[in-house]
Amino acid sequence: MKIKIGEKILEKINQYINLGDYSKIGVLTDKIIASFWLNNLKKGLKNDFLLISINPGEEEKNLKTLAKIWQKLLENYFDRKSLLINFGGGVISDLGGLAASTYMRGIDYINLPTTILAAVDASIGGKTGINFLGVKNLIGTFYEPKMILVDTNVFSSLPKREFISGFGEIIKHAIIFDKKYFDFLFNTNNIFAPKNLKKTLQWSIKIKTEVVKKDKKEKGLRKILNFGHTFGHAIESLSFTTKKPLFHGEAVAVGMMAESYIAYKLGILKKDDFLLIEEIIKKYQLFQKINLAKGDLKDLMVKDKKNINQKILFALPERIGRAIFNVRVPEKIINLAIDYISL
Ligand SMILES: NC(=O)c1ccc[n+]([C@@H]2O[C@H](COP(=O)([O-])OP(=O)(O)OC[C@H]3O[C@@H](n4cnc5c(N)ncnc54)[C@H](O)[C@@H]3O)[C@@H](O)[C@H]2O)c1
Ligand SMILES: [Zn+2]
Repeated sequence: MKIKIGEKILEKINQYINLGDYSKIGVLTDKIIASFWLNNLKKGLKNDFLLISINPGEEEKNLKTLAKIWQKLLENYFDRKSLLINFGGGVISDLGGLAASTYMRGIDYINLPTTILAAVDASIGGKTGINFLGVKNLIGTFYEPKMILVDTNVFSSLPKREFISGFGEIIKHAIIFDKKYFDFLFNTNNIFAPKNLKKTLQWSIKIKTEVVKKDKKEKGLRKILNFGHTFGHAIESLSFTTKKPLFHGEAVAVGMMAESYIAYKLGILKKDDFLLIEEIIKKYQLFQKINLAKGDLKDLMVKDKKNINQKILFALPERIGRAIFNVRVPEKIINLAIDYISL
């Protein structure tokens, strides 16, 4: 699988994809992204493609929208030699990846991420999915894109909160895998400047790809990517029932605080490292204490689909740059961590 990061990739996408190799090309995107960037992509694709534009938002990751995509492909005579380009955030790459992996038993697809989160996380690793009966990502496949093309220009239209939220995953990569990366994120002041941003995206993409390559189906090592997510998913879900819903990366940041605290309390992580983790989360303005029902939070964690036999298993840092997985944590310590992140 090829990955390319650069500027103005949309306009010259024909230099990266051999358009002639495909019988048809479809572009799946959402209406917000289309309003900002579709014209740029049109240039690169020489206007010759089928546009499938859906409403923005997580709610679109459903069976009905998936069926609509299949239908559009069929009505427009897409065959096995067709290509789907997922042009958007994680919602688009999850949904489009699943559509591509199932249509005619699988056609080629390319991810063109437009959010930081999608660039460093959702577009890599081949996990596709939709939500079903209220359960997130319940239905999905492992199916890798042919290529990932990151045009750094597109991030200029991202709302600031959306942009920063993506740094939750970026910080996670550093904590679980690479102390040097952590130091770079910690010590660089203008991290959002184009040169630093490009370096950051490259670094994170390398880490995620490396981890996934070693364990495609999440039987072992890939689980370290779940650091911050056992708490994070529960916090994210619960926050949707309040007046202050959190973005994924924001919830993961609080989750990382809770889970680092657990690692510290279990004696796995030194206090100095724990404090550094807290510091970096503060530096990226992702530090916050939450006001959510503690019992509900624990309930949601027990139901997490990563659990086996309802036992909560955590991925925890043992020092900055290294993590372990499948750690069982006594309920007492989980309660302490909930207290620690609560207002
Ligand atoms: N498959 C995986 O491995 C994986 C990993 C992480 C997350 N995910 C999934 O990703 C999804 C979240 O992705 P997301 O955070 O990218 O959210 P998203 O796709 O919903 O995008 C967020 C919002 O930003 C808008 N937007 C996107 N790009 C823009 C741009 N360049 N300029 C202006 N607005 C833009 C979108 O229209 C949308 O309203 C979740 O469904 C999650 O489950 C999947
Ligand atoms: Zn995540």
